Amino acid sequence: MKHLIPQQTLFKTFETPKSVLQLNYLHKVSDTNIAQLYLQQICQKFPQAITFTLPVGEGAKNLHFANEVAEYLFSKRFCRQDLVIAVGGGVVTDLVGFVSSIYMRGIKFILIPTSLLGMADASVGGKTGINNIYGKNQLGVINDPYRIKVCSQFLQSLDKRNFLNGLAEIIKIAACFDRKLFERLECYDYNYLMDPNNQATLLDIIKYGINLKLSIVTEDKYEQNIRKILNYGHTIGHAVEFASQGKLLHGECVSIGMVLANILAKEHGIDTSSYEEQNQECSFEV
Ligand SMILES: NC(=O)c1ccc[n+]([C@@H]2O[C@H](COP(=O)([O-])OP(=O)(O)OC[C@H]3O[C@@H](n4cnc5c(N)ncnc54)[C@H](O)[C@@H]3O)[C@@H](O)[C@H]2O)c1
Repeated sequence: MKHLIPQQTLFKTFETPKSVLQLNYLHKVSDTNIAQLYLQQICQKFPQAITFTLPVGEGAKNLHFANEVAEYLFSKRFCRQDLVIAVGGGVVTDLVGFVSSIYMRGIKFILIPTSLLGMADASVGGKTGINNIYGKNQLGVINDPYRIKVCSQFLQSLDKRNFLNGLAEIIKIAACFDRKLFERLECYDYNYLMDPNNQATLLDIIKYGINLKLSIVTEDKYEQNIRKILNYGHTIGHAVEFASQGKLLHGECVSIGMVLANILAKEHGIDTSSYEEQNQECSFEV
């Protein structure tokens, strides 16, 4: 594990902007899995940083932990010239984005997504949010991070389930906006994409997916129009995810949501035949 991310690679990829170096303190939030795998290496690069580690999983994305992070920042006297860095999956980036957006009415934050879902979807587009007893992402704001740094080498330690989980959101954006990407995804077995020898192909797909999402969210940041399409599979998916109480992962639920949305659309007389079979196959694989 020690050499998973050669230090210079992380440093190069996560090249620190000059303005950040002038800030008084850096504060990093990750979850316990990420902390075990990478915290030491990341801390070596930012010796002035102090760290906060969250429990693993969706259960940490709530007001309780948002408050814990905020109170920690207050206890360390963070001010608006300081910087918060989120290193982790979508749970960490959503929570940190949310806390940073409301802390003293907004403090700069950088996202370093470590899961496939985080890289291709959760860190892109400025949506931040936490869950409450009424459902997923019920409290949140749309606020862009100061920087997003994607380092695909993090993916080498991601397990198959979480890899497929991330693939689901890439399949979704392809199904919504790019038939070519969709057809390309159909060609690859996930084992091929998970193989470190094929990292260039995976990175290319991630970049393509990020750019696709960026083009949509740039056009409609506050989800008044075209961005709504990105919620494909999410209405039902969020309900399934919430009901599963952490047993099912976000991407798994979105896959179920996409298949069920197609069935509902059909029942309402909408022709989904051109995508239905392919989409169902991809979703079931996830
Ligand atoms: N803001 C948005 O636009 C947006 C979009 C999609 C999803 N989301 C949110 O993202 C969350 C799901 O994200 P997620 O799937 O990344 O969940 P997650 O953050 O819980 O990460 C999944 C698991 O992978 C582990 N992990 C992460 N990176 C790893 C690595 N490099 N090596 C080994 N293990 C690693 C984590 O510790 C965790 O156990 C959901 O809460 C969802 O609502 C947000």
